[in-house]
Amino acid sequence: MYAKFHSIGAYVPSKVLSNADLEKMVDTSDEWILKRTGISERRMAAADEYTSDMAAKASKIAIERAGLERSDIDLIVCATVTPDYFNMPATSCIISDKLGIKNVQAFDISAACSGFVYAMSVAKAFIESGMKKHVLIIGAEKFSSIVDYTDRTTCILFGDGAGAAVISATEDKSEAFIDVHASADGSYADFLVTPAPGCVNPVSQKVLDEGLNFVQMKGNETFKLAVKTLTKDVKNILAANKINSEDIPHFIPHQANYRIIKAVGDSLKMKEEQVVVTVGKYGNTSAASIPMAINDIWESGRLKKGELMLLDTFGGGLTWASALLPFAGENA
Ligand code: UT7
Repeated sequence: MYAKFHSIGAYVPSKVLSNADLEKMVDTSDEWILKRTGISERRMAAADEYTSDMAAKASKIAIERAGLERSDIDLIVCATVTPDYFNMPATSCIISDKLGIKNVQAFDISAACSGFVYAMSVAKAFIESGMKKHVLIIGAEKFSSIVDYTDRTTCILFGDGAGAAVISATEDKSEAFIDVHASADGSYADFLVTPAPGCVNPVSQKVLDEGLNFVQMKGNETFKLAVKTLTKDVKNILAANKINSEDIPHFIPHQANYRIIKAVGDSLKMKEEQVVVTVGKYGNTSAASIPMAINDIWESGRLKKGELMLLDTFGGGLTWASALLPFAGENA
């Protein structure tokens, strides 16, 4: 049995946070943000709209597009670092309830921006082992809940949103995943960190006074390592599978910063039309960025059945992951 990428769906909140809005909140400018990141705007969930709500909306679409009943789903894996609750229950369990799916295995993955591709590797393993048939994988983030909107080094980058995909079993190797790589190096854990809440920093007055509940990032160091790691990772997966970069119609990298995407694309000698860029309108939505980008090109008719996708991502942990696979769903 093989695993195939059966369908895609996404949801973005309606509220737009533009660079002009951020100019009123911190000492920054539209010009600086655009030049350094390529971001013009990002979305923000409503106060009472949670990660599980966005995830459930994206999931409903993905399941419908796969032509399945919700009861066909036998595993739900949600990748998020902004779960509804930090300890329990898992956001996947809340999603299963919002979807009305009973008796389903459901758990979360914490791999920051790499979470969706990590979830793909889990789905692939469950399906190839024969344990599951239709796995719902989700990347969903309410990043605005952990961003300090007085910190100009992070608040300009992140946005909210969700993407979901159904990964199904198939006997047809031509529509199967070709390869998925996922890796981590915890010695760089302090590059991207939310210090609280957790057993290192349980909730206290100190946590609140020092804003330890907000995301902290060593931006420039992360940037340099991201370019180096992503380039190496993509070259490795292409070489391992004897595929040339010019044969990839859709290179879909994690949407953290346009300059990172451009540097990696250039080093692979990719043409502009091969590289998918959505960071300008959504910012960095962490685990949601890759499925949201896949959904964008599918809905616009750019991604067609059978076409090869190369995914590549990098994030807190530090973690990174890449995947090579055909899109095995129907055309939009
Ligand atoms: O998704 C997970 C992975 N995340 C990433 O891959 C993100 C990687 N990092 C980045 O995207 C970039 O490093 C940033 C966009 C965060 C920052 O860009 P940079 O070119 O690395 O800038 P920098 O941190 O080296 O800062 C340059 C200058 C500094 O001023 P001085 O010290 O040169 O006077 C900053 O204080 O820009 C200043 N600065 C800002 N100025 C206006 C930092 N943030 C801002 C801002 N507006 N928002």
